[in-house]
Amino acid sequence: MADDNQKAKADVGKKKEDFEFAKILGEGSYSTVVLAKDKSNGQKYAMKILEKKHIIKEKKVAYVNREKEVLSKIKHPLFVRLYFTFQDSDKLYFGLSFAERGEITPYLRKVGCFDETCTKFYTAEIVEALDYLHQLRIIHRDLKPENILLNEQWHVQITDFGTAKVLEPGSSQCRADSFVGTAEYVSPELLTSKNACYASDLWALGCILFQFTAGFPPFHGANEYQCFQKITKGEYSIPDGFPAPIADLIEKILILEPTERLGAEEKGGFGPLKQHDFFEDIKWDTLMEQKPPPIKAYLPGQDLHSDMNVLDGMDADGQDDFDGSLLLAGLGLADQSKPLASQSDDRKALLAKQESNSPWSPFCNGELILKAGLVDKRKGFSCKRRQLICTDGPHLYYVDPVAMVLKGEIPWSEHMQLEMKNFKTFFIHTPNRTYFLEDPSGEAQQWVTLIENLQKKKKSVN
Ligand code: ADE
Repeated sequence: MADDNQKAKADVGKKKEDFEFAKILGEGSYSTVVLAKDKSNGQKYAMKILEKKHIIKEKKVAYVNREKEVLSKIKHPLFVRLYFTFQDSDKLYFGLSFAERGEITPYLRKVGCFDETCTKFYTAEIVEALDYLHQLRIIHRDLKPENILLNEQWHVQITDFGTAKVLEPGSSQCRADSFVGTAEYVSPELLTSKNACYASDLWALGCILFQFTAGFPPFHGANEYQCFQKITKGEYSIPDGFPAPIADLIEKILILEPTERLGAEEKGGFGPLKQHDFFEDIKWDTLMEQKPPPIKAYLPGQDLHSDMNVLDGMDADGQDDFDGSLLLAGLGLADQSKPLASQSDDRKALLAKQESNSPWSPFCNGELILKAGLVDKRKGFSCKRRQLICTDGPHLYYVDPVAMVLKGEIPWSEHMQLEMKNFKTFFIHTPNRTYFLEDPSGEAQQWVTLIENLQKKKKSVN
């Protein structure tokens, strides 16, 4: 902190020319955040740049002033810090802490959902941050995973105070202006009575805790209206297999009446929230000195999906029945003693056979199917049964086997890594996402070997 204070003091009277601007870190409706390096000492900042004309035209001057006012009050490691501001003829510049790891969302997307340890640690840091914020009488009002950044040591740094409010002493709620937060995390009181209070941030916390564990937020709809409908009715359901202490905590936070939420002033404030069973082993006093747990996925119990039965009308194991010979041919492992022309004749013949026999052929763009079979594709608590098709493209397509619709593909990449968990479960780690796949017929090893061999083959060709 002493270091932070020195940095802040040393940085008065900055101007644009003092910085080298690099990549864009984020873009919003009214601002762009750019990585900026102080030429004098190499210090990196996340420079939030706002165009004056645009702010005035969109009538957001009050929000910009509010953000500066609020950020100036916050001096805590769990928040981005405002080190300096300056302006030129057409822009405003806010010099903020640079959170090296960026938003928490891509990590959540990559693993689908967090395991219990990870959920607990990151939720605890958000709780600690809110405790501090509310002591300063500030309501964030737009807490969501996109506003939760991670610093180099993987600790939380909360950002975006453009819609925050500072309450008068003794006041416990504020009238909402035209602003309504992000649909999925907005509290029911903001929708029904247009009031926000400290407990509105607790509502968002409950939604985030749910999302960390499930992989998706508790309230969602085809559009904002449907989402709002669910929120005002408090209509959400906790998926089977949710760890009991997390389910209990969510149920104590996602309560329509704000004063009834665990953590609300009327319920004794943050003390009882921090003492909830879920946080039993959290050492609150040293959170920021602790090494955050590695971000890992939670895989709910397998019995969760026992009700999935889309196999009706298919082969017993849903396997394509002619992957053996194709596999050899497609891998280029077919009889190498044959002349090349005859090998390509083989491929043509196999393609012709595939076109007349395989229901998956229309999804494969004329490529040869090397292996196809049903897998459960899991993302957090959602689990979809898909026909996974590996072709000599190479491509990994997945098809909804009931609707017979191509749902997507696992992007092939040379950086893709295969991980075999057990005879049914395997992971495909791509740069942006990890795919959790379960082959109910127990052929995880065959999938892994096939895909790894294709990768090797592709590398040797390139
Ligand atoms: N994106 C938006 N704000 C940021 C910050 N302060 N650090 C890193 N990435 C960001």
